[in-house]
Amino acid sequence: MNSELRQLIKRRGFYFLSQESYGGSAGFYTYGPEGASLKANIEDAWRRQFKQKESNMEIDSPTIMKEAVFDASGHTETFDDMIIECGKCGEQHRADHLVEDNTEIDEAEAFAAEKIEEIIEDENIQCPSCGASLSGIKVNDFNLMFETSIGPGDAERGFLRPETAQGIFVEFPRLKEYARNDFPFGVVQIGRSYRNEISPRGGLSRVREFTQAELENFILPGQDPDISDVEDVELRLYSRKLQDEGAEPAEMTVKESLEKDVVASEWVAYYLGVAQRWYERIGVDPERLRFRQHQEDELSHYASDCWDAETDVGHEEKDWLEITGFAFRGCHDVKQHHNHSNEDYRVFREYDEPKEIEVKDISPDMSYFGPEFGDQAGKVIEKLEELVEDSPEVFEQETIEIEVSGEEIEVPSEKAGFSQRTEEKDGEKVFPQVVEPSFGVDRIFYSILVHSFEQDEVDGEERNVLRLEREVAPVEVAVMPLMDKDGLGEKAEEIRDELQEAGFRVDYDDSGSIGRRYRRQDEVGTPYCVTVDYETLEDEDVTLRDRDSTEQQRVEIGSLAEKLGE
Ligand code: GLY
Repeated sequence: MNSELRQLIKRRGFYFLSQESYGGSAGFYTYGPEGASLKANIEDAWRRQFKQKESNMEIDSPTIMKEAVFDASGHTETFDDMIIECGKCGEQHRADHLVEDNTEIDEAEAFAAEKIEEIIEDENIQCPSCGASLSGIKVNDFNLMFETSIGPGDAERGFLRPETAQGIFVEFPRLKEYARNDFPFGVVQIGRSYRNEISPRGGLSRVREFTQAELENFILPGQDPDISDVEDVELRLYSRKLQDEGAEPAEMTVKESLEKDVVASEWVAYYLGVAQRWYERIGVDPERLRFRQHQEDELSHYASDCWDAETDVGHEEKDWLEITGFAFRGCHDVKQHHNHSNEDYRVFREYDEPKEIEVKDISPDMSYFGPEFGDQAGKVIEKLEELVEDSPEVFEQETIEIEVSGEEIEVPSEKAGFSQRTEEKDGEKVFPQVVEPSFGVDRIFYSILVHSFEQDEVDGEERNVLRLEREVAPVEVAVMPLMDKDGLGEKAEEIRDELQEAGFRVDYDDSGSIGRRYRRQDEVGTPYCVTVDYETLEDEDVTLRDRDSTEQQRVEIGSLAEKLGE
């Protein structure tokens, strides 16, 4: 980051390391007054687009959830990063990041731990803290969830949510009722999530507590979105293929991305278009924005395809930062919660007319599975259910062999209660699929700051200016009396009150020279300043100054709100 911008961020209180009196705590930041306003305005702008304009429901769920939820979602088992501990100084590092920092490899996250160990050895990678060699040290998995306990004593184990999404998924049985079973429907949530990052670095771009704005769009298989509204939106797409070829991203419209099969899901393409427009509206520089498809081995455990919106936040060279993931989660989450919880997560879909259907299912003998497999019983049954669809012939054998948690086990077929028959049905129960645009608010905030910061010259002096879009600027208009005497202050206060009453975000500033006050407002991104001077007392006109052009014009007080509203 440009050092001038870094100083501005600290000086004007956009954000700073939290708890500095106690030495600070890495990965935790406090948003100061300007930053908290900017962040809240980004969240409001997101809500206007992804809740209101897209006609979705909003919920607000707890940030602490039971262990069982994350067992079902797969986070307890697979939500890991790779950790390596220096044998000399004991400092712990994220092993894949060490590889990325010390080699030409860009994405080491997808490698297996053994491969990372091998690279560390071959490249003789050293501990960044003390310089000791890390060769031969084991790389382990480290689960990123913050663990806690719910209640006193032998309390229940819980976790701080690593994504807001699970708070939506676990309420699906109720949410579909609120949506009157009318699919597709979307549910949004804005809130804090937590990840115990191994070695947070890069300021706001990798933190342990952060804000997500997530949309879970529930669709039934075969339902497509209406893309007409965004089909002509231009996207910069960096497909897996282009990445493999070492080529540059390709520019095409949403419609072309589907016609050329670059984006597989119409829903994902639709949201790329909606998001592209939204980013531009709130001040992400379109020249520094691209959508990059995940490599197969980079996909999260729940996703079958994913595109990340990335912004370049580099100063002298490019530095791409993921700000949003557009994931196709399929039925993963609903199916998992259906299998692990006490509720039915399926949706009844009526046929146009009744059909003869071949029904295959199992009815497991729980008096056998419970005592025989204990905690693993759910997983064993899940595996058997998968076989019902994929290879029902195995139920004709005397015993069925399956692998659960890395162990080979045998189940007597008769205990599975397999049956196959033909029935006339009016409809069927299906699992909905989920498309998830998941926005990292803090990273969007950071990108906007980087993209809107400029230094130019005004009246022979260098000035710092944040060219923030008005929709997100902490203050829309600053009102200032030329001097705080002779009734100018009172007049300016009257104008401030009127503008506030009219719904504008207004600041009042009466200290220092007018030039200094303009600079102060420029560097926090205030688009307009209104100055009250002696002439105002005679003709009821004020000076309206534009941040970007620095042009000034006289405007009648009576038409100020209308003019600002234009
Ligand atoms: N819900 C997606 C994510 O947290 O990355």
